[in-house]
Amino acid sequence: MTGKIQRIHAKAPDNWVNDPNGLIYYKGYYHLFYQYFPYAPRWGTMHWGHAVSRDLVNWEHRGIALFPTKRGDENGCFSGSAVEKDGRLCLIYTGVRYEPADPEDIHVSFNEQFESCQMMISSEDGFHFDNWRDKEMVLPPLTDPQIGDRTHTRDPKVWREGDSWYMILGSTREMKQGRVLIFKSRDLRQWTYVSQTEKGPEYGWMWECPDYVKTPGGSVLLVSAMGLPDVQEKEKNHVLCFPAKFEAGTGRLEIADRCQLMDWGMDLYAPQTTLDREGRRILMAWVRMPKPSGDGWIGMFSSPRVVEIEGNHVYLRMHPAVRAAYSRKINETSQAPDGYRAVFDLKEGQQVDVGGFRIGRRNRRIYTDRSAVYPRFAGAHLISETPELAEEAHLEVLADENLIEVFINDGEHVISNAVYGLGNWLRLDPGMEIELYGLE
Ligand code: FRU
Repeated sequence: MTGKIQRIHAKAPDNWVNDPNGLIYYKGYYHLFYQYFPYAPRWGTMHWGHAVSRDLVNWEHRGIALFPTKRGDENGCFSGSAVEKDGRLCLIYTGVRYEPADPEDIHVSFNEQFESCQMMISSEDGFHFDNWRDKEMVLPPLTDPQIGDRTHTRDPKVWREGDSWYMILGSTREMKQGRVLIFKSRDLRQWTYVSQTEKGPEYGWMWECPDYVKTPGGSVLLVSAMGLPDVQEKEKNHVLCFPAKFEAGTGRLEIADRCQLMDWGMDLYAPQTTLDREGRRILMAWVRMPKPSGDGWIGMFSSPRVVEIEGNHVYLRMHPAVRAAYSRKINETSQAPDGYRAVFDLKEGQQVDVGGFRIGRRNRRIYTDRSAVYPRFAGAHLISETPELAEEAHLEVLADENLIEVFINDGEHVISNAVYGLGNWLRLDPGMEIELYGLE
């Protein structure tokens, strides 16, 4: 799998991937690490796979960066983030140790019993990681349940503010409600507890993969909430965006009493943000799949999106580098082996059928219907719908054979859907026009 190149959507090189990890632009490359199980197309002992890109469009897989070597990460290197310090690339992640492993399947824990700690490893070029010598435990398993859960505390996202580093961790209060914990450090090695924030059991029993996202137009806390009680579908874990404000002086993170769903397709999870070369805040997320693709791999990543916040609304816009790469005008989707970009307006009642995937507008909302290109199972999310739109509907679609991203009104809303067996054809309602672009 090392050397494998993928375009627009980075995907599992083989077997299984979940969360994007350690996203960073460092020494001329975008680094995308990811949760990777290298032995089978299912979740198991977590490694960090590694892909790099020069342009956010072409992704090259570079093999395994992190794997279990220490007692702290004996059973897996869970999610985490990257920062640059003194010219080195530092990865801060969660190590897990099962208590014990399931004797019949050592890649999972027995009865969900395990312990979590936070670890760090660094590299001088972003490509070479000495898993035997360069790992250290920077935050041991929590022992005070008032501060955080010993088992379910994970996914450190680290950022710099003033003369300190801050780490936000996902956690739970007694397996009843999600919370985030904030720690502070001068050197990335010694961390002291600062504060915590929670909102109540209606927002899920556990918050994973937190990210405090600051943009010129405002700040939000992203959390991947587990077990949302009001969701009807099988998948009850989804990303919530809370308008938020972090005060470095007091160490307090205040979050609003309402939140926005990140994506209306309900497939995205565990997003992570970083700054691109030009200083834009960009986000990538895991796209969950209910079964392996035709080639046997499972798990993909959204295209990198630009995050902007205006009036407390989070916009996820198509990245200009992606748009620019997909600008070769074509007449049919069959002329685009590396995926395509489609641009069109939708009037009330109109619909496009993209190889079996339908995109339409009714009741001033944009909907997608993937019934013809997605497996059927109890609680499958087949039809997605945005909230009511205030204005006209201008759509920009980024598609390849397993993932369709529908950007509505320049990222005001996005619907991202995994698909299987998409046809290579396009059907438009009368009077509609569409522009199609392939890779340059
Ligand atoms: C989110 C998550 C993280 C964890 C990782 C393990 O999908 O459960 O909380 O670190 O996946 O693979």
